Amino acid sequence: MYQSKIAGLGSYVPENVVTNDDLSKLMDTNDAWIQERTGIQERHHIKKGDGNTTSIMGAKAAKIAIERANISKDDIDFIVFATLSPDYYFPGCGVQVQEILDINTCPALDVRNQCSGFIYALSVADQFIKTGMYKNILVIGSENHSGGLDFTTRGRSVSVIFGDGAGAAVLTRSNHNGQGILSTHLHSEGKHALELSLKGPSTNHWVPEIIAENPQGDDIPYYPYMNGQFVFKHAITRFSEVIMEGLKANGLEVKDIDMLIPHQANLRISQFIQQKFKLSDDKVYNNIQKYGNTTAASIPIALTEAWENGKIKEGDLVVLAAFGSGFTWGSAIIEW
Ligand SMILES: CC(C)(COP(=O)(O)OP(=O)(O)OC[C@H]1O[C@@H](n2cnc3c(N)ncnc32)[C@H](O)[C@@H]1OP(=O)(O)O)[C@@H](O)C(=O)NCCC(=O)NCCS
Repeated sequence: MYQSKIAGLGSYVPENVVTNDDLSKLMDTNDAWIQERTGIQERHHIKKGDGNTTSIMGAKAAKIAIERANISKDDIDFIVFATLSPDYYFPGCGVQVQEILDINTCPALDVRNQCSGFIYALSVADQFIKTGMYKNILVIGSENHSGGLDFTTRGRSVSVIFGDGAGAAVLTRSNHNGQGILSTHLHSEGKHALELSLKGPSTNHWVPEIIAENPQGDDIPYYPYMNGQFVFKHAITRFSEVIMEGLKANGLEVKDIDMLIPHQANLRISQFIQQKFKLSDDKVYNNIQKYGNTTAASIPIALTEAWENGKIKEGDLVVLAAFGSGFTWGSAIIEW
C-alpha cells in the first residue's frame, strides 16, 4: 500500500475586490452586520471581461501547483475537480482544465460535494495513489459564485457570504513512510439536501416550469437557498465530530494538531471550533476575512496561503475539515 502527500500547492483569485460597502450600494446591508455575523470584510468577484471562469481560475491555480511540485504537466495521471459552479451543465470542469493546460488523455473527474468538495476530491485522489494505480494527481477546487447570486436585498443573507477563487494541489506518491495523508473521513446526510441548495435550472426545474411556478418571481429557485441557522448548528457539530474521528483513527489527540484549516464557511464557525478544542490562534488558519466563503476552493486557497506564509513546516500535523451542502462533511489528517 502506498501513501500520498501534497507535493505542490497553488491558488488564484480574480483581481476585482468587492468590499462590504460595495455590496451595501446594491442591497440593504452594511459592513457591521456582515462582519459581526460572518467575519467577512471583502471578497473577490470575477469582473465581466477579465477572462475568468471556474475552469480558467482552476487551471491558473493548478499551473502554480504543478510548477511547485516540480513535475511536468505530462506527469499528471488524473485530474479531480471539485466545484458547485461549473462553467457548463456538462461536461465538467476537469476536462476543460485538461484542455487549457494541454494535459494528455488522462482521466478527469468532477466532484459535486460543494463546501466539502475539496476534501472529497482529495480523498478520491488519495485512494488512487494508495492502490498504486496513479502517481501524480491534480486536485482542484474552484468556484464562480458571483455569476449566480442574487445581489438584491432579497438575496442578501446568501450573497454577502460567497466569493470567487480557486486552489489546487498536486498529490504524489510519498517516498517517506508516515509522511503525507494519514487518513480521510467522509460523511453525508441527504435528508437535509434542500436546506442549502440551488434547485434549478435543472432537469427537475427547467426554465419554463420555474417561470410558470413563480409568476410573481418572489420564490426564485435559480438562486441558492440557505437555511442559515440550521446550517450553522449542523456545521459546528459535524466539524467537531469529523475532526475527532480523524484524530482517533490515527491514535492522535487535539493537542497533537499543529495547524487546523477549516473550510472557510463563516469565521464564527471556525472560532466556535477553536474555542471548543482550546486551540491557540497560531494553530487555526482563517482567511475568510479577505475572500468570503469560496466553497470547494476555500481549503486549498487557505492551505496554499498558510504554506506560503511559512505557517506549515515539515513534520507538522495538519488537519483539514469541511462541512456543507448535502449535507456533506469530511476531514483529512496530514503529516506534512
Ligand atoms: C447566514 C448567517 C450569517 C445569518 O445570520 P443569522 O444570525 O442567522 O441571521 P438571520 O438569518 O436570523 O437574520 C437576522 C436578520 O438579519 C437580516 N439580514 C439577513 N442578511 C442580511 C444582510 N446581508 N445584511 C443585513 N441584514 C441581513 C435578516 O433579514 C434578519 O432580519 P429580521 O430579524 O428583521 O428578520 C448565519 O446563519 C450563518 O452564518 N449560517 C451558516 C452559513 C454557512 O456557514 N453557510 C455555508 C455552509 S458551508
